[in-house]
Amino acid sequence: MGLPKRVELVEVSPRDGLQNETQTVPTPIKIEFINQLADTGLRVIEVTGFVSPKWIPQLADGREVFQGITQKPGVRYPVLVPNTKGLENALACGVKEIAVFTTPSEQFSQKNTNCSVAESLERIAEVMKVAKTRQLRVRAYLSCVLGCPYEGEILPEKVAALATQLVTMGCDEISLGDTIGIGTPVKTAQLLETVCRQVPPQQLAVHFHDTYGQALANIYVALEHGIAVIDCSVAGLGGCPYAKGATGNVATEDVVYMLNGMGIETGVDLKKLISVGRFISQQLNRQPQSKVNLAFRK
Ligand code: HMG
Ligand code: MG
Repeated sequence: MGLPKRVELVEVSPRDGLQNETQTVPTPIKIEFINQLADTGLRVIEVTGFVSPKWIPQLADGREVFQGITQKPGVRYPVLVPNTKGLENALACGVKEIAVFTTPSEQFSQKNTNCSVAESLERIAEVMKVAKTRQLRVRAYLSCVLGCPYEGEILPEKVAALATQLVTMGCDEISLGDTIGIGTPVKTAQLLETVCRQVPPQQLAVHFHDTYGQALANIYVALEHGIAVIDCSVAGLGGCPYAKGATGNVATEDVVYMLNGMGIETGVDLKKLISVGRFISQQLNRQPQSKVNLAFRK
């Protein structure tokens, strides 16, 4: 299969990035950050999570953030929801697109959402009932698809079965998450071959955390499999507090640099992106975790 000519980047830093910070970023800074991201040419920005503030206090200001941003025409602003309560809160803010999440790992499901995988699917089914009557676009994340910090190996067949089930339930897109970044290219290829037998690559996205520096190599494999939606996070922010070893997502700057070099369009202005990566890193008092961002330092 040829490589895609254009890739859609899903910027997850305001949610996946900021949920994992020990410090809570002030609401006006989050709003400024998201507005700056939209000005780089990014077309999909995951704004926040309407999850329990007891579980993720860093995102307790989801409503203020969502209502505070300036929505740019042509940009989509999805939010993460774990249950109908999250969906109700999201709808009350005027959200038009959501992301739900589950995992093939029983133990990770318990740690992350306090329920079994079957129960998480029941919650998603409840969310889907409302989402579809409201014509919301729904993405579903599958976490720990290349291995789990608690259960170890996860069989590709298990991932494929769950992905198929989510599509049958009406999810528009499935984002395959390597939550702890342990995947390597051959394993990624085996997973994608298995999943693509049941779900077309047009309905798949990939979500790599870069814990072991494998994300770009794995993304290349995904592109070879016809997957053209890639999740990423400026300055390499990211991680899941309930997955031991989950550090930052692949940095958006690094993905854009690689795709530019391959002649694959993203619509994103790399220079602007670098300056947004520096802005948020400064707020967090650290260097961007993006090799490309650091390389462009004068
Ligand atoms: P629970 O404690 O079992 O829930 O949490 P509960 O239904 O028993 O409710 C407990 C309290 O939370 C109640 O309040 C509810 O009203 C409230 P109280 O009566 O005690 O005052 N509550 C809520 N409040 C606000 N918004 C809500 C909500 N739901 C309940 N939506 C629950 C279950 C699922 C809510 C919790 O476990 C949770 O929020 N988990 C989310 C954890 C999370 O956000 N993890 C990170 C995101 S996933 C990720 O990072 C992976 C990803 O990036 C892909 C990858 O890398 O693989 C997506
Ligand atoms: Mg993640």
